[in-house]
Amino acid sequence: MMKQANPDTIAQAANLIRQGALVAFPTETVYGLGADATNGAAVAKIFAAKGRPSFNPLIVHVSDATQAEQLVQIDKRAREVMAHFWPGPLTLILPLKDGAPVSDLCHPDLDTLAVRCPQHAVARALLHDAGVPIAAPSANRSGHISPTAPQHVQKSLGEVVPMILADGACETGLESTVLDLSGETPEILRAGILTLEDIQAVLPDAKIHEAQDEKVKSPGMLLKHYAPTIPVRLNAVDVEDGEALLAFGSTKFMSLKSGGGVDKLPEERLRNLSETGDLYEAASNLFAYMHALDTPENKGIAVMNIPNIGVGIAINDRLKRAAEN
Ligand code: TXA
Ligand code: MG
Repeated sequence: MMKQANPDTIAQAANLIRQGALVAFPTETVYGLGADATNGAAVAKIFAAKGRPSFNPLIVHVSDATQAEQLVQIDKRAREVMAHFWPGPLTLILPLKDGAPVSDLCHPDLDTLAVRCPQHAVARALLHDAGVPIAAPSANRSGHISPTAPQHVQKSLGEVVPMILADGACETGLESTVLDLSGETPEILRAGILTLEDIQAVLPDAKIHEAQDEKVKSPGMLLKHYAPTIPVRLNAVDVEDGEALLAFGSTKFMSLKSGGGVDKLPEERLRNLSETGDLYEAASNLFAYMHALDTPENKGIAVMNIPNIGVGIAINDRLKRAAEN
């Protein structure tokens, strides 16, 4: 059931979490599908609801660094990035603490744990009221487009989630940056709204993880992901018959294969991530526009080139996975 977030419904949601039920809730990045991270039976429901492979570890959400400290080992680097970016869209991979009160299902075959302290007021209130760390992946069926609005969650998981705490569209619209601090060099495993440059301002030796041993490092990044039900075609310079266009910047030089400019496309076939070419605006619109164009009437989505700099790296990462066959 979808319920508008307010102190009463947040308290109800916190009760459901403590009773071992699932709750979908808003964060500043995307909607999460939450369960009490200390309760294995509850965490198992996440995997079942999403159809998520059991080897894919979960992010455990905490209310602050003090709660994180009960679960993971926090070194000087971790303390520094937490001070800079928490609460906010940064997930840290850290060595698990001995006897940490968290279900093994959150970190299958791993001696590390992903922790994140979200900024969204509703997420913070829920964590506060529940009083337990909350394991939460994005609230979509595994492999599909991430949800940035409560309606996306309703459509994808409405039948299996007892409660969706609704609070409008997510502000940043792209998942958190995942930073691995379990090894010698800080490595970004998943590009996100915080860029490499943002992280390097605090940890100058941070780098983007190279793909070879990705299987071990970030199991979730292996998969075809973020995928609409129709094909996605990248770096399009024109639009084929029946295709929708996901534009970025000026569309002056884009044309329809059948003739004419793309301004002829009906609304249900055209979205522009950012007419002014602003990558942050594009990031916040990405998933919502993919949802909007993913209709049976469209035979595919043609996507214009997006510069691979700053947040563009995270946007292109999502688009590449969406276009995987
Ligand atoms: O913005 C976000 O991070 C959202 C909101 C709900 O917080 N959550 C999210 O979760 O995107 P999910 O499950 O869709 O993505 C988690 C990513 C996956 O790629 C997973 O493999 C990786 O984090 N991950 C989790 N634990 C890990 C660990 N111990 N080591 C390496 N990667 C891990
Ligand atoms: Mg996800």
